[in-house]
Amino acid sequence: MDWVKDFYSQTGTWWGPAESKTSERDHQRVAKVHAQAGDGPWRILELGSGYGTTAAALATAGHTVTAVELSDRVRFQTPAERLTVLNEDFYTVRLRQEFDIVCYFNGFGIGSDPDQRRLLTRIAAEWLRPGGVALIDVYNPFTWNSWHGDEEHRHPDPSQGYAYELHERTTFDPVTCTATDTWWPADRPHEAISQKLRCYTPADLTLLLEGTGLRLDKIDPTNLRDEYEYLAVLRPVTR
Ligand SMILES: C[S@@+](CC[C@H](N)C(=O)[O-])C[C@H]1O[C@@H](n2cnc3c(N)ncnc32)[C@H](O)[C@@H]1O
Repeated sequence: MDWVKDFYSQTGTWWGPAESKTSERDHQRVAKVHAQAGDGPWRILELGSGYGTTAAALATAGHTVTAVELSDRVRFQTPAERLTVLNEDFYTVRLRQEFDIVCYFNGFGIGSDPDQRRLLTRIAAEWLRPGGVALIDVYNPFTWNSWHGDEEHRHPDPSQGYAYELHERTTFDPVTCTATDTWWPADRPHEAISQKLRCYTPADLTLLLEGTGLRLDKIDPTNLRDEYEYLAVLRPVTR
């Protein structure tokens, strides 16, 4: 996973000025947390928090939030009361407390199946309190497969904070169920960088969860025709 820190730091340089502002998506995520867990206030761990807009929105809604982000997207973070941001790797970070809720929005699937299992096991064994809930966005293979071969040319839009002219190509490997999303600056095609995203059907996710200490309670939405990701609601296995 050597590419992870560089990819999200570089794309943060391209998109951060535009995408590091609180948006409707952050409010929708806060609403999803409340819909699945109640209004709280809760102790929330957010993994892979990116620019930190959702973490800040959760803290503003009254929750006590710890956010963990590997890349230098953290430099766009807006500080908030009750919010702690750690610029660390969630595979190695040491957190000395338990949480009511663990979230990972738009990021699960960066890595191999054993990596994902390692993360799920840490969530269950170290971070989630008994009776807590993990809310994890999972990439939907049906939609990523439909994007195979797509190319896009993104023109700069400085008024919106997009200063760069970029190209994007998306491919999908149905054998490994992995999407590859490649970006390059229009004038420097040799500097192309890619993210690789393992996608899971709910049935695959159920198999992945075996032995991790978490089980799939439900997904939202249940109609996977058009969504590029779905929210998996995971709960600790009780013995
Ligand atoms: C697709 S981005 C999504 C960011 C944010 N959750 C959002 O929805 O805007 C995935 C994020 O996870 C972070 N990430 C991936 N692996 C990580 C790791 N091992 N530790 C901490 N952060 C990680 C990346 O740096 C990136 O910012």
